[in-house]
Amino acid sequence: MHRAAVLGTGSCLPERILTNNELEQMVDTSDEWISSRTGIRTRRIAGSGEQNYQLASSAACKALEAADISAAEVDLIIVATMTPHMIMPSCACFVQAEIGAENAFAFDLNAACSGYLYGLDLADKYISGRPEMKVLVIGSETLSARVNWQDRNTCILFGDGAGACVIGGSDHRGIVDSRLFSDGRLWKLLYMDSPASRNPDLSDPDRKGCFIQMTGRDVFKYAVRAMENAVTSLLDRQHISIDEVTLLIPHQANVRILGKLMDRLGVEQEKVFINVDKYGNTSAASIPIALDEANRQGRLQQGDLVLFCSFGGGFTWGSMLMRW
Ligand code: UT7
Repeated sequence: MHRAAVLGTGSCLPERILTNNELEQMVDTSDEWISSRTGIRTRRIAGSGEQNYQLASSAACKALEAADISAAEVDLIIVATMTPHMIMPSCACFVQAEIGAENAFAFDLNAACSGYLYGLDLADKYISGRPEMKVLVIGSETLSARVNWQDRNTCILFGDGAGACVIGGSDHRGIVDSRLFSDGRLWKLLYMDSPASRNPDLSDPDRKGCFIQMTGRDVFKYAVRAMENAVTSLLDRQHISIDEVTLLIPHQANVRILGKLMDRLGVEQEKVFINVDKYGNTSAASIPIALDEANRQGRLQQGDLVLFCSFGGGFTWGSMLMRW
């Protein structure tokens, strides 16, 4: 049986770094509060020339280069995002045009912060039918355009960025199994009315009502429990112990969430990849950015078992096991 394996990874972060000290000048907060409650110290903010599809395209080009595959060889582009450049056409179509992937079909997928795992799972289904396919799975967000910069509860948390993988068929490595979940009943705890992020103008008064709204404390509790269940049920189904996992790459939302998750799963910090301190919560982009960094830092060797988990608006959540 063919599995969907990662052939190359890439990521792209905006140049502008927004520090906690700068946020102290914008809202009633402090570096101490943000660092101790979230672990976040800086985040990246997209500027002109760094629209969602441009970040996504740059990440995709790096992944293609790493995989030694040309854009013309790509069969499918999936962009996981909740801040697409426009509602129509999809961000994926913009990426297709930008990188010259003229033989691909392309579409977006919105599962909030879990979008990347949903995208990988979908790529796996395509690859199992046609193992020769080359699929670009991208997670890309310009959340700064959809954050209320007067709301200290949310504006300190989020950042912009993109990560990408080229996925292709392999008979000895790739996605082993995944568990994906949604529960729409609790949507009001975390939502955003209107998603397009084109031409973000942070002072535009017309954008009222389009900002991320979150009841943080409740989301925190659900996130820990849901990710723990997603991981343990997946490991049980595969008869794999957490000790056999080389690296856990979780969605990067808050170090305290990750700390509780590590405690409950009984996994040491050295086995968990964390970069939320640098980039904040980049929603669908957080897992592929972290995967690219882990890969380029040499944290993954052939045959390693990599575990992913995520939680986000919807609610959506899930887990995935991959043989590297
Ligand atoms: O991507 C997946 C979705 N998102 C998440 O997973 C995020 C989940 N939630 C969280 O990470 C945390 O709940 C937050 C970081 C958002 C908040 O941390 P918390 O420890 O849950 O704080 P809280 O919301 O319970 O607020 C505690 C206090 C409140 O003041 P009072 O009512 O106790 O006087 C807030 O008003 O902290 C206040 N507060 C702040 N103070 C300084 C909230 N935001 C700030 C701030 N600076 N930025």
